Amino acid sequence: MSVQKLTLMIKVLIFHVVLCSSLHVCFAAIVNRSTLHPTAVNSFGSSVYLPVSGNVYPLGYYYVTAEIGNPPKQFQLDIDTGSDLAWVQCDAPCVGCTLPRDRRYKPEKNNYVLCKEPICAAVHSPNPPPCKNPTDKCSFQVEYADQVSVSGVVVSDTFPLRLVNGTISRPPLAFGCGYGIRSSGTHPPPPTAGVIRLSRSKPSISAQLSTMGVAENILGHCFNDKGGYMFFGADFIPKSGMTWTPMPQSSSDKHYSLGPAEVLFNGKPTGIKGLHVIFDTGSTYTYLNSRVYGSVLNEIRKDLSGKPVQEVKDRALPICWKGSRPFRSVADVQNYFGTLALSFIGNIQLQLSPQAYLVITEQGNVCLGILNGTEVGLGTVNVIGDISLQGTVMIYDNANQRIGWAYEDCTPKFG
Ligand SMILES: *[C@@H]1O[C@H](CO)[C@@H](O)[C@H](O)[C@H]1NC(C)=O
Ligand SMILES: *[C@@H]1O[C@H](CO)[C@@H](O)[C@H](O)[C@H]1NC(C)=O
Ligand SMILES: *[C@@H]1O[C@H](CO)[C@@H](O)[C@H](O)[C@H]1NC(C)=O
Repeated sequence: MSVQKLTLMIKVLIFHVVLCSSLHVCFAAIVNRSTLHPTAVNSFGSSVYLPVSGNVYPLGYYYVTAEIGNPPKQFQLDIDTGSDLAWVQCDAPCVGCTLPRDRRYKPEKNNYVLCKEPICAAVHSPNPPPCKNPTDKCSFQVEYADQVSVSGVVVSDTFPLRLVNGTISRPPLAFGCGYGIRSSGTHPPPPTAGVIRLSRSKPSISAQLSTMGVAENILGHCFNDKGGYMFFGADFIPKSGMTWTPMPQSSSDKHYSLGPAEVLFNGKPTGIKGLHVIFDTGSTYTYLNSRVYGSVLNEIRKDLSGKPVQEVKDRALPICWKGSRPFRSVADVQNYFGTLALSFIGNIQLQLSPQAYLVITEQGNVCLGILNGTEVGLGTVNVIGDISLQGTVMIYDNANQRIGWAYEDCTPKFG
């Protein structure tokens, strides 16, 4: 299985089946450009800002509400930096769709992307599109895991987007219209209307927006326990406090990855080195391979000795502790738990404070949000999931081939 399939599998494994009934986020109001901090003058007029909803626990994912079509219809899309083509549930004879027909996307004749169009080749790259005829509809298929997949056809439609410069842009974007969602009881389909895919590859929304000249191929997200925000373009890159590190060049890896990394605990080396990590918002928790996971767990346990917490079983997650009375937030335990860090070449560090690896469960226990990746078949790849991306504005700057971050509370910038 490819790395992509494996992370997709992780994503499916951790989905909770929650059907969101209210559309409580919309695109941002037009904002006053003078209140922003453009970092550079570029040939792109603007940026796109999107409020984000969701949380790590108990929901397990973050999503945006996107408008598609004319007249526009709203769709909740799970944010996934681990894969390429966005897709929504299709109002066509559908096997496995979870939304009622009127809340799915209904393609018109002219929305279908044909095999001869370059975007079809990009969707299937590096393989050729599986087409008999250049004028056939372009199909797509996403493998989530054994027996779990989404298939359908690629369509193109307008995404009305309010740009930060005040213009409303209606770029036509290609995405998948999914009408074959296969899943099994243990691997439920995603609860959202679809998935917004944001990997490094050509068919990703950020690459398409940049091809259209709407916003530079820069993607950012900032998550907290109430939601957060995301953006395309350069306008929301913090002016100060950013740590940048070059993206490794690898044509085969569509993921945002960095490495090799070393694990520090409370600022001290742990002897765990050479980690290959990928950033994947499609994963709720962080997954470390067995060896690394075991060492990190050891460090945490050692550090907890003599502190007023006790290991306890909680069905939320495998490793949990209780205190003398129920905890209400991670703030209640941050004096007991240390800070982890991933240290990259050049001593560039991504700090993981207790908030970035612990959750407080409904029972008031504190649980480790770092899981054993070997147990779910991840091999040597380490996945930095939503939990560890909280409280950080993460920026994937495809235009300049670098990844950067800064710590902030991720409060939405506009009401
Ligand atoms: C935009 O911000 C500038 C500077 O803060 C202010 O002078 C101006 O009135 C604002 N415009 C609007 C429409 O809010
Ligand atoms: C805003 O940006 C878009 C796309 O980058 C551009 O087409 C448009 O002309 C810009 N509008 C203004 C008012 O600058
Ligand atoms: C992680 O999972 C693997 C595979 O199930 C298992 O062999 C290993 O003991 C686990 N590691 C730890 C530290 O629990």
